[in-house]
Amino acid sequence: MKKPMKSFFTQCARPQGFLGRIMLRFMNFGHAPLTNWGLSLLDFQDKWTMLDIGCGGGATLKRLLKRSEGATVHGIDISAEAVAKAKKVNARALGKQVFVIQGSAEKLPYPDAMFDLITAVETVYFWPDLPNCLQEVYRVLKPGGSFAIMVEVLDGTSIWTEIVDGMTVYSPDELLTLLNSAGFTHTVIHRKKPSYATITCRKP
Ligand SMILES: C[S@@+](CC[C@H](N)C(=O)[O-])C[C@H]1O[C@@H](n2cnc3c(N)ncnc32)[C@H](O)[C@@H]1O
Repeated sequence: MKKPMKSFFTQCARPQGFLGRIMLRFMNFGHAPLTNWGLSLLDFQDKWTMLDIGCGGGATLKRLLKRSEGATVHGIDISAEAVAKAKKVNARALGKQVFVIQGSAEKLPYPDAMFDLITAVETVYFWPDLPNCLQEVYRVLKPGGSFAIMVEVLDGTSIWTEIVDGMTVYSPDELLTLLNSAGFTHTVIHRKKPSYATITCRKP
């Protein structure tokens, strides 16, 4: 792949600067089909407190807010550019029902048992030490709370790992095993064409 294209696609790992802003806009639309399908698998309740990790440009925060009346939605992303975009996209509810901060899945700056639902859309590929990050997700989830991982790159030999620096692809089965090892239960792999997967699970 030509260098300018590689520079653009690598932005999805941690968007920065001008290309990062374009990528964030692109992902807010491009990930809609996967995200809307993944969210449709979840049984939303009103007044939930939710977290979207690797929230990117913030479209998922908006989608979560629509599905639970009176909800509070938190977003966290390692990229300052993503945080700025997510705040802009959610400007109306910001500071009232939507809260966005910069940080990493490795050390979530939230108290234990805070969230009813945690989502991670197209982001686990970039989390360093995924088993440790899953422990963090487990810690901040309420007992009985749900976690949903949504991915559309499922094959470790895919061309994406060559294009995007720092990307690790996990198969749905690998994710299921990691989630079970972290203590999650009710772990289910959902599949949809073309290559969508959502892995849902619960904290007992
Ligand atoms: C492919 S984008 C997906 C963004 C968004 N979830 C979406 O569906 O449009 C991956 C996002 O994960 C973020 N990210 C990467 N590593 C992270 C980490 N360790 N902790 C939190 N976010 C991370 C990136 O900055 C980027 O915004």
